[in-house]
Amino acid sequence: MEKLHPDIKRIILSEDDIRGIVTRLGAQISADYADKNPLIVAVLRGAFVFTADLVRAITIPCSVDFMAVSSYGDGVKSSGVVRIVKDLDTKVEGRHVLIAEDILDSGLTLSYLIGMLQARRPASIDVATFAVKDIEGKRPAVRPRYVGTHVPNEFIVGYGLDYAERYRNLPYVGVLKTEVYE
Ligand code: PRP
Ligand code: MN
Ligand code: MG
Repeated sequence: MEKLHPDIKRIILSEDDIRGIVTRLGAQISADYADKNPLIVAVLRGAFVFTADLVRAITIPCSVDFMAVSSYGDGVKSSGVVRIVKDLDTKVEGRHVLIAEDILDSGLTLSYLIGMLQARRPASIDVATFAVKDIEGKRPAVRPRYVGTHVPNEFIVGYGLDYAERYRNLPYVGVLKTEVYE
């Protein structure tokens, strides 16, 4: 078991849990995209850890590119505005695009991104998200083709997920202690 960071209340997904999830997603994607040379689009910054693991679990030819958007800034709540910080270098037209995200919360980030990339006329566009946050009574605006796991509606960090740019490097996903952000 990993040594628990003092700011973490409890671990939700251990390194072993994560490995299992990503291996399964990689196998599904490899089967579905055989001969399609998908363009994996990592949504920076949060998705960088998941994408690095995911592409190594994918056994077919693929390319990887990066977009940077930010909707949360340093806060706990979404600002409601998605800001493009870095665009792709790869041409999307005619490509099978698979967006890799760390977490789907309100779906704001993903619905904005899908709309934006759809306008570039890809052959297909789908989403692989490591986690979906379960919010009672709310359905996210986007339904990803690949979902790693569901997480409770708590402030979680690690495995790419940050609070004020911290904790992305934790190898597990854990719940942040309330006193850290209150
Ligand atoms: C976080 C997370 C997702 C998004 C999910 O990104 O990495 O991209 O929020 O929330 P949503 O479904 O409500 O849009 P953030 O904006 O914090 O930027 P970051 O990836 O650089 O941390
Ligand atoms: Mn993000
Ligand atoms: Mg963030």
